Parts: sequence; structure tokens; C-alpha cells
Amino acid sequence: MITKETLLEIARYGQMAPSGDNLQDWRFSLKEDALELVGAFHNHPFNLNHRPSLTGYGAVLENMLIAAQELGLEMMEDLFPAGGAIASLKFRESSVKTPHPLFPFIEKRSVNRRNYLHRDLPPEIREELIQTAQNSGFGRLSLADGLPAKKSAAKAAFYGSQVMMEDQGIHQALFQSIRWNQAEAERTRDGLYIKTLELGIQEPAFRFLSSWRLTKALNLFGLSRFAAFRDYQLCMGSSALGLIEVPDDSPQSILNGGKLFERLWLKMTSLGLSLQPEYALVALFHMLWNNPAQFTPSQRECLTNGIKMLKEAFSIENEKRILMFFRLGYAAKEPSARSLRKIIRK
Ligand SMILES: Cc1cc2nc3c(=O)[nH]c(=O)nc-3n(C[C@H](O)[C@H](O)[C@H](O)COP(=O)(O)O)c2cc1C
Repeated sequence: MITKETLLEIARYGQMAPSGDNLQDWRFSLKEDALELVGAFHNHPFNLNHRPSLTGYGAVLENMLIAAQELGLEMMEDLFPAGGAIASLKFRESSVKTPHPLFPFIEKRSVNRRNYLHRDLPPEIREELIQTAQNSGFGRLSLADGLPAKKSAAKAAFYGSQVMMEDQGIHQALFQSIRWNQAEAERTRDGLYIKTLELGIQEPAFRFLSSWRLTKALNLFGLSRFAAFRDYQLCMGSSALGLIEVPDDSPQSILNGGKLFERLWLKMTSLGLSLQPEYALVALFHMLWNNPAQFTPSQRECLTNGIKMLKEAFSIENEKRILMFFRLGYAAKEPSARSLRKIIRK
């Protein structure tokens, strides 16, 4: 008999998963002997076809699978069951009880937005990560770690960041999710706590940018390019840029891609590597394909150049199947702060 307390414990590990802007846009529901993961899709402009939400839900499921194994349970998932949930999960005692090697890293994993050390990715670690993706059957990982490929990928990130800074809807969504002090972060237990952004001496100036009018005016004087250049430098200082592609655009494939993303992130954490998603570019590409008219001609050109640069950096089979783009490397220091999670109550 699996107790309600055990199910809640598994859900709490699910809750530690990453989500876009730390929105944690899901909830759990106990149904007799099953635990349901229910989507609460947010309306961020990036959330086209719920791609980022589904990616996060995949990460939640991966954490739960790992936690269940650690507790000696087998997790059986029914994806997109009738009734509208994302997954209905049942558990049973496992015949073989082996701790999961990635379990200790669920709590340790977090975004690290600091500079990384200029250190190469050891070939054996590179291979281990590629193999992890291959063995999952959920998608493909490509790594850009040679100088020319890294430069192209970093330029791609540059274009994504630039356009992101120039879009009013994205600006509004970003600043809505910022938690300006610890008290606010602890009260909401979601969103982006300012200290996790690692802005250092730029933090006071960033506060002024919550005004779109000011940001728009400063963009005329090169603010968006300045911010994008910082992103370029962060990418160039990383050991590698990574890209995950999924086999198709179905919700199930995106969800499974999210599982793979989390598995890789936990694996990297176990190997002493840090990661920061560079998701703006991926989301903006999808927005461009969906409705090019929402961008100015110069933004369209930036995004088209970004796609070209990504293609140069990675051997992409189909750019529409890109799930995630990120930088990885060895951070000199731990993040200045960690994002909190909403508390799951009985
Ligand atoms: C789909 C998705 C997109 C994300 N995009 C970005 C991003 O573009 N930049 C970034 O710094 N973090 C990004 N993140 C990381 C989240 O902001 C992070 O997971 C969340 O704030 C919780 O923090 P934690 O992962 O440290 O626990 C993304 C996460 C997900 C799942």
C-alpha cells in the first residue's frame, strides 16, 4: 500500500523541476490511488503551443520517476489521459530496489547565471552527455565546443537576446515575474528572485528598466545590443553551447524532450557542470514562424540571422524541432541565490 504521504513526497521532488521564469505552472491532484499532474499553462508570449510549459512538465515527470525509484517504487505514467490532465501516475512496489544515481542532484540542481570558467569540456564527459541523450530515445543533444561553432552559437544567442529586449510583451512578462527582494520571493515562492539573475553592480540600473518607456528609449541608443553582447560574452566564456532537438512537434515529444532536458541537467550537476538555458532565441524562432508580422523587418532579420548561426554551430536536422538551447560550463562559484518553490500541502 502506497501512502498519501509517499505520493506527496514524490510530488515535492517533481515540484523542484525547472520552469520558465520559475512560474511552476502546474499542480498536483490526488485521485484515489493515482497522482495527477495537471497543467496550468501560463500566458507568457513565449508559451506558444505550450512548448515551454510542456518542457517543464517533462522535467517534473523525470524528477518524479527518479524519486519513485529511490523510494523503491515503479512509476507508471499515462500521458494525456481523458479528463485533461498532463499525466496520471500510478506507483507500485518495485521488485528490484536500487537507489537512483541522479536522485541526490534533484535538490542540488539550479540555474547558474554567473560567468563560467574558460575550461574545455573533457571528451569523456562530452561523450557521456551525448550518450545519455541517445539512450533516452527522447531526442538528440548537440554540443558546440570548438571555437568556430561556439562563436556561431554565441552570435545566435546574441540575436535572441537583442530581440527579446525590444519586445514590449516579453518585457512586461519578464518584469512581472521578477521578485525584487527576499521578502517578496518568500511570499510568492515563485518567479525570478532578482539575486538569481547575477546582475552584480548592474542591479540598480536594471530596476529602472522595469519601465518599458525607458527601455524603449534606451534601445534607440543601443541598450538591447549592449545586453545581448553580455549574453554573447557569457556564452563565449562557457565550455560549450548545447542544443536539444526532439523528433517531432507533438505535445508528447515535447514533454519527453523536457524529461531528457532534466536528465541531462541532473547529470551535468552530478559532473560538476553548471547550465543556463538560452531559451529566448528558441521561443522567438517559434513566434517568428507562427506570425512573422509581429516583428519589425530588422527584428526579422536578427532572428533569421540567429537561425543561420545556430545552423552553422550545430548540425540541425530541422530547426523547428529545437526544444532547448543552453550554455554549460564550470562555474567558479555557486549561484548567489536559489529560486524557491510553492509548498505542496495535503
Ligand atoms: C522551458 C524553460 C525555459 C527557460 N528559459 C530560461 C532562459 O531563457 N534563461 C534563463 O536564465 N533561465 C531559463 N530557464 C530556467 C528557469 O528560469 C529556472 O528553471 C527557474 O527560474 C527555477 O530556477 P532553478 O532552475 O534554479 O530552480 C528556463 C527553464 C525552462 C524549463
